[in-house]
Order: sequence, then C-alpha cells, then structure tokens
Amino acid sequence: MNSSADLDHIADALAAEHWVLLRDWIEPELQHELLAIARQRLASGALRPARIGRVDGLRHDPGVRGDAIQWLEPTDPAPCVLELLHLLDALRVALNERLYLNLVETEAHFAHYPPGAGYQRHLDRFRSDEARTISAVIHLGEPWLPAHAGELRMHLHGADGEFEIDLPPWPGQLVLFASGEVEHSVLPTRRDRYSIAGWMRRRGSR
Ligand code: OGA
Ligand code: MN
Repeated sequence: MNSSADLDHIADALAAEHWVLLRDWIEPELQHELLAIARQRLASGALRPARIGRVDGLRHDPGVRGDAIQWLEPTDPAPCVLELLHLLDALRVALNERLYLNLVETEAHFAHYPPGAGYQRHLDRFRSDEARTISAVIHLGEPWLPAHAGELRMHLHGADGEFEIDLPPWPGQLVLFASGEVEHSVLPTRRDRYSIAGWMRRRGSR
C-alpha cells in the first residue's frame, strides 16, 4: 500500500503532473468497514449538508455541491476510521520527506452524494486560507458500473491546453492532487456515492 517504491512514485507523479491515482490503495476489508460506517452514520443523521464558501459566509447550495459530510476526528469510536486517518497521516509524513512540503496536519470527512447530486468544478484551496496543499479522495462503495455515473472529473492543463479526465469512483482507490492547482468536479451520480475527502495542510490559519 505504502511501500517506499510506491511512495517515491506518488511523490514523483505529484511533482510532475500535480495528481496521481492509486487503485486499491486501501484493503478491501477496510473499504467495506468504512462503507458500512458511512452508511450507518448517514442513516443516523450524522452527516450534514455540506456548505460552500468561507470568509464571505458559508452557504448551502445543493446546485453547486450536493453532498452531506461528517468530519473525522482522532477520537472517532470506529477503529477503521482511525486506521484510515493513520494511513493518510503516514502518507503526509512520507510526502514531506520527499517533497519538502511542510505539511503539518491532515483533515478529512466522509461524504455522501445522493442520486442526482454532484459538486461543480472547484479548487479545494480557499482564497482566504492557502493551508490546504494536497487533496486526497478515497472512493467507497460497491463495484462501480458506468450506469452509476458520479465520476470525478479532473480538469487538467497540458501543452495543448485544457483537457479532462473522468475517473470512475472505484472503491478503495486514492486520488491525490495539488489542492491549489487541480480543478475538479463530481459529475451527478445515479446511485448513492460515498467517499472520504481529506486535505494535508501546511502551517496556516484555519
Ligand atoms: C471534495 C471533492 C471528490 C469526490 O469533497 O472537495 O472534490 O470524488 N470530492 O468525492
Ligand atoms: Mn474537491
């Protein structure tokens, strides 16, 4: 999962392309446990409609962003959540060693997109707070089929201009990208779509 050769590859790809996809980054068992917890918490009302904006006021606008989220805390009662936070934090340390990014912490939340929901094109870094440096998205769910839609669309820049890559949300995969560089969107999903979105942060105000 995080062998030193893998970590070198991840760091090289991030430095060269600003993003990297790692299939099967978490074990199937951990994926299933996290999915089960996300479903339970959705059913119990622990996930709240996500809001957009920052300094100018947070607002709920499901036309822009239709997911509901729960922030993951180091005190979480579920061992699988702690394991995932630990994996992300180990990755943060490994990226610091290789890319000198001075990443000091990781934050992450569960996200659930109901059928019909998506997230319009955006950057994860706020204009008012540049601490978010590396974005990490882990997709959860049953095996993906094209009819499920809900791809993560990456808006990328090449020598010939802008192009897009649509990543099906395969369960267990990790997508890492530069929070301040890579715009992306979640295309409207046709099934319940679960993910964990996380950010490795540089020193800065929250
Ligand atoms: C986000 C996000 C992508 C996904 O939460 O900022 O872009 O695939 N999520 O869930
Ligand atoms: Mn995002």
